[in-house]
Amino acid sequence: MMKTIAFFETTKAEEHFLRKRIGKNFTLQFFQETIQDVPVKKFAKAEILSVFIYSVVKKDLIRSMKHLSLIATRSTGFNHIDIHEATKRSVAVVNVPYYGENTVAEHTFALILSLSRNIHKAYVRTLRNDFSLEGLRGFDLKGKTLGVIGAGSIGLHVIKMAKGFGLKVIAYDLKQNHFLADTLDFTYEPLDELLSRSDIISLHCPSNEHTRRMLSMKNIRKVKKGALFINTARGDLIETQALHYALNSGIFAGAGLDVFEGEELVKEENQMLSKNVPVEKLHALLQKNILLKMENVILTPHMAFDSVEAVERILQTTVDNILAFEKNSPQFVVGGG
Ligand code: NAI
Repeated sequence: MMKTIAFFETTKAEEHFLRKRIGKNFTLQFFQETIQDVPVKKFAKAEILSVFIYSVVKKDLIRSMKHLSLIATRSTGFNHIDIHEATKRSVAVVNVPYYGENTVAEHTFALILSLSRNIHKAYVRTLRNDFSLEGLRGFDLKGKTLGVIGAGSIGLHVIKMAKGFGLKVIAYDLKQNHFLADTLDFTYEPLDELLSRSDIISLHCPSNEHTRRMLSMKNIRKVKKGALFINTARGDLIETQALHYALNSGIFAGAGLDVFEGEELVKEENQMLSKNVPVEKLHALLQKNILLKMENVILTPHMAFDSVEAVERILQTTVDNILAFEKNSPQFVVGGG
């Protein structure tokens, strides 16, 4: 019997790519919605699930899928999957660890440069035919200090690019590679030291029980006054209250956010007029609307990964992950199995 793979959050173009590359040995199901928006009975018999980050794969779902053997997430982060339950049920979880270190790093600089040169403000003004320079003076990156929290694949790419701009770089990471630090010309510093010295702080570590809210009301006052804050990693790495406080009090002169707490709920904004909207959804919506009103904040809709080349690499790695698992030589296993 052919195994069934259920893909969620796929566009028509992605479906076309996957159908072509995965071969004819599987029954394929495609859903454009997230997994929580599709009735379980429609895919309950699937052996393999493939999701993106807005599909929350919860304990109960894993338990209810009797034939499930693999969850292939089409992302680097896997905090949307209950790894503990997958491990308990011997369901392997695989991810796409490398596909766009440069892609996310480039978006990080798109956010940094937009803020440092006020591109976002200028764009809105020139649309109104206002070509005045008032209030648009930016600052040079050259000579400033960039603090990278999490110097892994993406963080290291950010560091390499930073050197091209003449930035000094300091990094905070639990794992330290002094050879790389010497080669790329940066130093590792404790978190508090990084916060107090950086003109720009950029987050690049995963979200887990150790990193969640690593920036909070407890340490936000340690940040150098007037620093820029960039988050392309995960929204919950900074406590939302601390982010608002820092922006309102001038601790952060600006923020470039590709991710923020509750972003997955905001996606459902157009369904919010229905009854019984949970309080946390309204809260997420409110937070986003407050951020949107701030002139010194740029929000992008979790798109740092989204380049033509990176998406193709994600899909191809997912195909390879599924085929490798089927040949009993799984790759990029992050849990379960
Ligand atoms: P990676 O695993 O190569 O690097 C993460 C680094 O964080 C590692 O060096 C690790 O030692 C460090 N780290 C882990 N725990 C830490 C802690 N408690 N304190 C300090 N450092 C710690 O991951 P990669 O590929 O660089 O991705 C980083 C994150 O970026 C992902 O986990 C994901 O959440 C996010 N991401 C966002 C995307 C977007 O579209 N916005 C796309 C891809 C990734």
